[in-house]
Amino acid sequence: MLTRLIYISDVAEIFEFSDLQSILEKAQKNNPTLGVTGFLVMASKRFLQVIEGPAENVNLLFRKIIRDSRHADCRLIEYTEIADRLFDQWSMRGIHPGLMDQRLKAFLQRKYGTDQRGGLAVPEDRFTAISFLYDVAHADAIVEGLG
Ligand SMILES: Cc1cc2nc3c(=O)[nH]c(=O)nc-3n(C[C@H](O)[C@H](O)[C@H](O)COP(=O)(O)O)c2cc1C
Repeated sequence: MLTRLIYISDVAEIFEFSDLQSILEKAQKNNPTLGVTGFLVMASKRFLQVIEGPAENVNLLFRKIIRDSRHADCRLIEYTEIADRLFDQWSMRGIHPGLMDQRLKAFLQRKYGTDQRGGLAVPEDRFTAISFLYDVAHADAIVEGLG
C-alpha cells in the first residue's frame, strides 16, 4: 500500500549548508532501496518534506527522521493512503530559495507570501502546503509559463 507523508519542522539553531548536503546524500543513498520518493524544502528556518512510498518504509524512515537533531518539533500535516504518487520525480531532492530560479521564487512569494525577513514563507496548513509542494515539483512548467 502506497502512503504519502508530509511534515513541517524547525531547522536546528546550528545548521550549516553542509548539513543539508549530508542529509540529501544519505537520502539519495537510502531512499531508492526503500522505494521512497519526494523532496525537502528548506526555507524560512523550516523544513517541509514530502515522502511517498510503501507504508512500512515511509513509517520506518519517518521514525528515523523525527529523532534527527538537525531539526525539531516535526508536525505531521498529511498522512494518507494513495493510489498513485504525486511526487515521483526524485528519490529525494533539496529545494532552497537561495538556489531557486528567481522567477519561481518571485512567483512563490507572490502566491504564498513572505516571512518577517522577506524570505519565502512556508505554509503550515495541509491544503496550502500540498499546493506549495505541487507548484515546486512542477516548477519547470511554471517558469516556462512565466516566460
Ligand atoms: C529534514 C530531514 C530530512 C531527512 N530526510 C531523509 C530521507 O529522505 N531519507 C533518509 O534516509 N534520511 C533522511 N534524513 C536523515 C535521517 O534522519 C537519518 O539520519 C538517516 O536516515 C540515517 O541513515 P542510516 O540509518 O543509513 O545511517 C533526514 C533528516 C532530516 C533532518
